[in-house]
Amino acid sequence: MSSVLVAGGSGGLGAFLVKALSESPKFSTVKILARPDNSHKAAKAAPARVEIVRAEYTDHAGLLKALHGVDIVISALNGIAAGDPQIALIKAAKEANVKKFVPTEFGVDPSRQASFSFYADKLKAQQALRDASLAYTLYGTGLFPDTDLAAWFGFDIENNKITLVGDGNQPISWTLREDVARFVVDTVLEESSNNKVVNIEGDVKTANEVVALLEKKKGVKFDVIRKDPDQALAEAKATGNPGIVAVTEIQVGYATGFAKVSNPSELSFKPKSVEAWVNENVRA
Ligand SMILES: NC(=O)c1ccc[n+]([C@@H]2O[C@H](COP(=O)([O-])OP(=O)(O)OC[C@H]3O[C@@H](n4cnc5c(N)ncnc54)[C@H](OP(=O)(O)O)[C@@H]3O)[C@@H](O)[C@H]2O)c1
Repeated sequence: MSSVLVAGGSGGLGAFLVKALSESPKFSTVKILARPDNSHKAAKAAPARVEIVRAEYTDHAGLLKALHGVDIVISALNGIAAGDPQIALIKAAKEANVKKFVPTEFGVDPSRQASFSFYADKLKAQQALRDASLAYTLYGTGLFPDTDLAAWFGFDIENNKITLVGDGNQPISWTLREDVARFVVDTVLEESSNNKVVNIEGDVKTANEVVALLEKKKGVKFDVIRKDPDQALAEAKATGNPGIVAVTEIQVGYATGFAKVSNPSELSFKPKSVEAWVNENVRA
């Protein structure tokens, strides 16, 4: 049995990972690593047999203490912490004899969009893992319907208004976070998952097909605005806001075919489709 630590384990994806790991008999210990200021939030969210350990990512000794006895680290840190904080954790994990490190990927293979700022830190962390000769798995998931079908990503479902980047005809992989977590539990201990990209694809739908599902469920025609990818990126950069640039980079990704994962794995379970998620979560 393995001991696993989830960095950022009370976050959006992290909470799903921690729940699935703690329900699996494969893991003897499940820990959440949280920064001290936020550990009360982690403690509130943690399932019963999950321990919270606390350290700042700048505190090397604190990280080593948190990692004592841990076999596998799964990083579910926010993308903004994929660079320096995550690389500090990788260095400490190597020193603490961690056997495997799963970096915070959980989207599309960043090397396919290496020129985009959003992916630069994820690529740096991949390099840090290779430099440390630490076993890793890079999980590719496509988009999460349960976070991305929302106004911040252009899907203003409540107001029947969608802003799409591109023509909406590119296939997109979609996977719910609970299915991502289930897949990680199924695969993370397998040696065959080491040192490679391992992809899950819960469903495949173009953006236009998703709009059609939403319209069917709500029984209304949506107002769909389409933006040219280059123009959308130029407008985002002109704002000088890195958050807006990052979101637009991901939108340009789906518009240009990079949100479709390649070679998806065979699954031991039936993932939820986008249509099922829409039917359960969107009010008619
Ligand atoms: N494919 C998709 O559609 C999709 C959608 C969303 C996210 N993702 C990916 O999933 C991963 C997790 O994202 P998320 O949205 O679940 O993350 P999140 O909930 O925003 O953050 C996860 C945790 O990261 C820690 N954190 C945040 N800012 C930090 C900082 N500056 N320094 C150190 N730690 C920090 C926090 O933990 P503590 O406060 O407890 O320390 C937080 O709870 C990312 O790689 C993201 O790109 C993919």
